[in-house]
Amino acid sequence: MVNYKDLGLVNTKEMFKDAMAGNYAIGAFNFNNMEQMQSIVAAAVECKSPVILQVSAGARNYASSTLLRYMAQGAVEYAKELGCAVPIVLHLDHGNSFELCKSCIDSGFSSVMIDGSHLPYDENVALTRQVVEYAHAHDVTVEGELGVLAGVEDDVVAEQSHYTRPEEVIDFVTKTGVDSLAISIGTSHGAVKFTPAQCTRDENGILIPPPLRFDILKEIEEKLPGFPIVLHGSSSVPQNYVAQINHYGGQLKDAVGIPEEQLSRASKSAVCKINIDSDGRLAMTAAVRQVIMEKPAEFDPRKYLGPAREELKKLYMHKITNVLGSANSVKCD
Ligand code: G3H
Ligand code: 13P
Ligand code: ZN
Repeated sequence: MVNYKDLGLVNTKEMFKDAMAGNYAIGAFNFNNMEQMQSIVAAAVECKSPVILQVSAGARNYASSTLLRYMAQGAVEYAKELGCAVPIVLHLDHGNSFELCKSCIDSGFSSVMIDGSHLPYDENVALTRQVVEYAHAHDVTVEGELGVLAGVEDDVVAEQSHYTRPEEVIDFVTKTGVDSLAISIGTSHGAVKFTPAQCTRDENGILIPPPLRFDILKEIEEKLPGFPIVLHGSSSVPQNYVAQINHYGGQLKDAVGIPEEQLSRASKSAVCKINIDSDGRLAMTAAVRQVIMEKPAEFDPRKYLGPAREELKKLYMHKITNVLGSANSVKCD
């Protein structure tokens, strides 16, 4: 049994309170290897921003829960070494069972998501409540979800999104005791968030997705004043990375994301946490593909993972500074 406080991590409580007061959001960036972790921490330090290191069940299996615990502890020490002890959360993304959440809490996670959004409402409430009781006994914060995003949520693929119903949020938050609530207002997971038929095209033929449902977000904010809201599926799918990947032999078709202006607008609202995974995957793949294709004789992994790490850091710094607005919110001595 490892408590996150012994690793130097924090839960989301103060982080979200500050984000709400400062009208910004915290980036929750998924990782599963050393280079991703280094770039997230380096970007957060350089931008003087708190950050959430986010791990899916698949990522935990990939990396090993033991290694992840030490990587998170390493992330805290690495931030200090780079010059600023920014607050760092280790968060389970899309937990799908009480047992998984408990196992994460017992191995050093400071925050967990229990995603019962695919369950009937009462079952979602009961499962979420069960996780909250265990988590709060260990001072770990819990994110629940109401509404279903289209796309892949771990192993569950939802064809259709179901927007969060504002009339359910007070009951859900009260009955479960969650610390934050993920909602569905038109974002979705992955690099192909919408079919071309759901989009319009600009004068250059670039797909423009339908706008987020800020009206639903507003209704939820009015029902839960000051309560932290979370947006999943918030990658913007930068078209320069898509072009770079395809130029160097990739085959990404119809990749389209959420425009950054909309995420920037959401960051200024009760949205305190914004999840970004696919953009990191794209940045990394674009950089690796370029080296592999341009330098076919290269076989030192550092020669392609190094540039990928640099590109990731640039991406996260851009998100933190220009999209989430959390830069310079940490005082470093
Ligand atoms: O929401 C899902 C995240 O992007 C994690 O994806 O389960 O493939 O690690 P993953
Ligand atoms: P993206 O696929 O848009 O990066 O969303 C990631 C996410 O929501 C992780 O939970
Ligand atoms: Zn998600």
